[in-house]
Amino acid sequence: MALDPTTTPAERGPAVEPDPAAEGGRSVEPSWWRDGVLYQIYPRSFADSDGDGVGDLRGIIGRLDHLQWLGVDGVWLNPTFPSPNDDWGYDVADYKGVHPELGTLEDLDELIAEAGRRGIRVLLDLVPNHTSDRHPWFQDALSGRTARYRDFYVWADPAADGGPPNNWISNFGGSAWTFHEPTGQYHLNQFLPSQPDLNWWNEEVREAVDDVLGFWFARGVAGFRIDVCHAIVKDRELRGDPEATADDHPLIQRRGLRQVNSMNRPELHEVLRRWRVVAGRQEPERVLVGETYVLDLEQLIPFYGNGQDELHLAFNFLFVHSELDAAQLRAVVEGVEAMLPAESWPVYTGSNHDAGRLVTRWAGGDEARTRVALLILLALRGTPFLYYGDEIGMPDVALDPAQALDPVPHRRNDPSASRDPCRTPMQWSAEPGAGFTAGDAEPWLPLGDAAAHNVGDQRADPGSVLHLVRDLIALRRSRADLRGGSYQTLPAPDGAWAWRRGDGTAAAVNLSGAEVEVAGLGGSVLVATDRSRDGERVDGTLRLGPWQGAVLALDD
Ligand code: GLC
Ligand code: MG
Repeated sequence: MALDPTTTPAERGPAVEPDPAAEGGRSVEPSWWRDGVLYQIYPRSFADSDGDGVGDLRGIIGRLDHLQWLGVDGVWLNPTFPSPNDDWGYDVADYKGVHPELGTLEDLDELIAEAGRRGIRVLLDLVPNHTSDRHPWFQDALSGRTARYRDFYVWADPAADGGPPNNWISNFGGSAWTFHEPTGQYHLNQFLPSQPDLNWWNEEVREAVDDVLGFWFARGVAGFRIDVCHAIVKDRELRGDPEATADDHPLIQRRGLRQVNSMNRPELHEVLRRWRVVAGRQEPERVLVGETYVLDLEQLIPFYGNGQDELHLAFNFLFVHSELDAAQLRAVVEGVEAMLPAESWPVYTGSNHDAGRLVTRWAGGDEARTRVALLILLALRGTPFLYYGDEIGMPDVALDPAQALDPVPHRRNDPSASRDPCRTPMQWSAEPGAGFTAGDAEPWLPLGDAAAHNVGDQRADPGSVLHLVRDLIALRRSRADLRGGSYQTLPAPDGAWAWRRGDGTAAAVNLSGAEVEVAGLGGSVLVATDRSRDGERVDGTLRLGPWQGAVLALDD
């Protein structure tokens, strides 16, 4: 694919002029990914069409009606490419193919078309930081120091003592360097040794990934979630990472190092600008959503560039790693509101395939807390990403970590690190196989308690979590305030959080076990987590019981 990375957004023509007067003071133009709700599908675990116990693309096609009924605007599929599955698809062996267990390229084309017919866009998962060691590039690179693709990867000579070139550590534990005896050098792997890091200083790597983007855009893919977006470019001189300090986020202190040379390099923004050019010259423009795993807003905001030239959306892991606590969540949201450039747009999520499910992590399995968490996600200013199963209040599934298929608990020797519990099959019904797999196939990961949470039963129950999520999505769609309206914190007592959206809408949540009174609200309840309160009048004070929340239409 021909491309000219020097083209600036201005040369592509003017952006749509925002109209601040429209839609409750929104400062950015509407677009499907700002206004819509996105839904993350872990393809191996969504629906199995061929009875092998592994979810697949035809399974997803068969369940698109559910997504349309729910009202989502787009789906992000975790990696769908051929892979030895050492890290369940995040070890890509061919960027332009489909994993045979998931289906064929034709199945993916059909999924894109069938989803499109229902108004649902499809985002794939780009894994540009590393390949599988079985990718033909790496296989070639192993053949010698002068191999054609040697410089596609990060190689370095041993340190003077023969050990690794520097102190960089793998996110999955241990040194980030693996020695390759036959060629006498180490290769970098920030994840598994079988996930060698690509060398983003090599222009040919950049061109190769542009070509991958073009390949999928031409097939109608609406955009990409970009894996470990913050890690792609490494310090050119391979300087060591400094020690973490007491000022660092607890998760960074736990890691022990500040990853400022092994990742999070300023030079990575050149690559993001380059991808934005490729995405921007498509008709329609494609969307780039980064897995920007940084733990302070000063680092997160720059991933949006000037609001027009880098990522469209940068996942907010401060929000993910907050507790379901009014002060903590409000602080993150207020920070985003204060710091994000006017042209940029927030994104919020509570669950994913790494961090676990919000039902367990935030709500401790409690349904009232789950409901209030989902209401927050769907009422904030920003694009919500739901994870499959969030809509039925599906919890993580307790599994024996010794049996984990996820390599991380084994490598880190930390049973709590297993990501299997949040990757179990979708629970469609209470039948054997949970409607995930037909016949008597053994699902690739054990099923959770499908009798307790499943789509079929909840569809039949208007009071269910599923109907709450659907109704909140529909409310968002029908109310401009909830899609594009501004955010403003409203006064609320400790343990509660209230905010206005645009001119005419408010949300209030009680994240405590005591009843609270939120004063200064006049209007009517549109949707409450306790559905018996829908339609209730509020004259000045909204009383919220423990772990309750509501979205209100404010009086003029
Ligand atoms: C990202 C993915 C995670 C994967 C890792 C390495 O963090 O979300 O699942 O293991 O990258 O590719
Ligand atoms: Mg299958």
